[in-house]
Amino acid sequence: MAKFDLGTILERAKKERHSLSRNELAYLISLKDPSELELLHSTAYEVKVRHSGKVVSFRGIIEMGNYCSKDCFYCGIRKSNRNTDRFELDEETIIRAIQRNIDMRYGSIVLQSGEIISEKNTEYIERLVRKAGEMSDGKLGITLSLGEQSLETYARWRAAGAHRYLLRVETSNRELYARLHPANHSFERRVQCLRWLRECDYQVGSGVMSGLPGQTDDDLAGDILFMHEMDIDMIGMGPYIPHHDTPLGRDVPLTPEYAEERLRLGLNMISATRLFLHDVNIASTTALQALADDGRERGILAGANVIMPNTTDTEYRRGYQLYENKPSLDENTEESRDNLVARIKSIGETINWDQQGTSPHYLVRHGKL
Ligand code: 5AD
Repeated sequence: MAKFDLGTILERAKKERHSLSRNELAYLISLKDPSELELLHSTAYEVKVRHSGKVVSFRGIIEMGNYCSKDCFYCGIRKSNRNTDRFELDEETIIRAIQRNIDMRYGSIVLQSGEIISEKNTEYIERLVRKAGEMSDGKLGITLSLGEQSLETYARWRAAGAHRYLLRVETSNRELYARLHPANHSFERRVQCLRWLRECDYQVGSGVMSGLPGQTDDDLAGDILFMHEMDIDMIGMGPYIPHHDTPLGRDVPLTPEYAEERLRLGLNMISATRLFLHDVNIASTTALQALADDGRERGILAGANVIMPNTTDTEYRRGYQLYENKPSLDENTEESRDNLVARIKSIGETINWDQQGTSPHYLVRHGKL
């Protein structure tokens, strides 16, 4: 690798967004030395503070069901996994979870499930979105994470009151994408969906997994450039964590060394993304917490500004195992919410209670910032 001067690169990146080359991004992602990591993360944190203050936004995730029509080789709820108990929350349970989010003042919710394509489901989601809006007098930020749908479906959900949509591209390297998915899953279709979401004026969220088998630092640098090209507003990235009931994760033990390496990569990706894009929302994801107890706080200190506590009823948690070791703490209770709040305060940050926490990048695009 060519010689890079870390201090010079960080100074430039901090001042001017989009100012890093692909090779420089890959270099930042590759860093391992503890003092260099400290400098990388703290510089990205400065940029985070400049754009969103010393403030963390919450989005309460409601995992509505784990039936999925997709068969991704890495995912624990893939269609072919017969070892997962399938569940679907009924409407009443979901409404209760939405109410709980309002009561907990999280400001914003994410309705998530496996990918289901049917008119019945489209109508059902429309109804839930309307209801969530009514329950909060339109104040609650409503995010959907329901996979690849048609332009028409996206438009209907947007019209019903959804503000944001999460659809990770998983990797922007199409050869790697092809190795991680069955032949009937299409990279082009996924990118098309991201364009449609943009067309419907959602705040568009995407992201990738880091540490995938065969993935290089250069691929990850390409992923950050992809987010820029697609003008993405919100980013949720997380380390890939093997799941024993999947083709990709079958024989991969999660050793402490493996976990540490995945955590390093996940944090470096957050920092490099913040340093390149500046004003997007970046989530410190649950997968980081799966690798280290304080993974999410470390994600914030590396440049993320969003945390997505799981607010699904605890009895259903086991069904939503996308990867191994997924934390299933009951973040619904006052006690665990207080615990999370205390952790955030301990790193000098406060919480954006009752606020939607709209992506500054989206507001700028609409001339509102
Ligand atoms: N490790 C980490 N993240 C995973 N996801 C699915 N399977 C895994 C895994 N084994 C992520 C995907 C998907 C999101 C809902 O969960 O990126 O978009």
